Amino acid sequence: MKVVFIGPPGAGKGTHAFMLSKKLKIPHISTGDILREEIHNRTRLGLLAKSFMDKGELVPDEVMVDIVKNRLGKKDARLNGFILDGFPRTKTQALALGNNLDIALYFKTSAAVIISRLAGRLICRRCNANYHIKNIPPKKSGICDTCGGKLYQRKDDREETVRKRLNIYRRQTSSLITYYKQQGILKEVNGDLDLIRLHKIIFNMLKSR
Ligand code: AP5
Repeated sequence: MKVVFIGPPGAGKGTHAFMLSKKLKIPHISTGDILREEIHNRTRLGLLAKSFMDKGELVPDEVMVDIVKNRLGKKDARLNGFILDGFPRTKTQALALGNNLDIALYFKTSAAVIISRLAGRLICRRCNANYHIKNIPPKKSGICDTCGGKLYQRKDDREETVRKRLNIYRRQTSSLITYYKQQGILKEVNGDLDLIRLHKIIFNMLKSR
């Protein structure tokens, strides 16, 4: 199954992709996670990506298309498909991905929910699991329930950078909703719903494919 998740920052794309990938045994490919890993390892790509990400801007299309093409060429994605989280984000990226997708899932989420989720988000340094200080707290403060890794807060989750990311989403990414609707593969879910309820809805949607 080949699925892309579309939605504003903080909509829950990464959280749900992580959970569904484990249950459905489909690789979760997050371009944000790939870039953060490069930054953590201080690679050339990481340095380049950081200069855009810290400001809440998009990394150039040609860089992102190369990264994704390379990742989708790996055996797990070739055999089992993928849940792509964070790509495509522009029309150029969507065209490069092609039209052999099964579902484009749009997380329709209100601005108030987005702001509160991003302000409290915590991420595991080791396995990228997502938590929230209030909504989804880890059992032990600062430690990942899944792998015991340390939790950290993303630099680009500062209020001012979040506002910029939201503007960029509206300007450059939201038009993909119409693009995939025209292709007849768009499904929409209410991203404001609580985690368990929304997980069940998406799981049933994808399982029945
Ligand atoms: P990326 O990492 O992809 O960030 P994003 O798209 O802005 O999305 P987020 O990760 O902020 O949100 P999410 O929807 O995954 O929400 P989450 O599940 O974490 O990209 C970061 C940067 O990398 C970009 O700004 C750009 O610079 C660059 N980049 C990446 N891809 C690119 C591309 N293709 N082209 C160009 N540049 C690219 O949830 C948020 C919080 O809410 C968490 O704390 C979670 O625990 C909580 N939560 C989630 N769901 C619920 C729920 N239902 N109820 C309660 N709490 C919930």
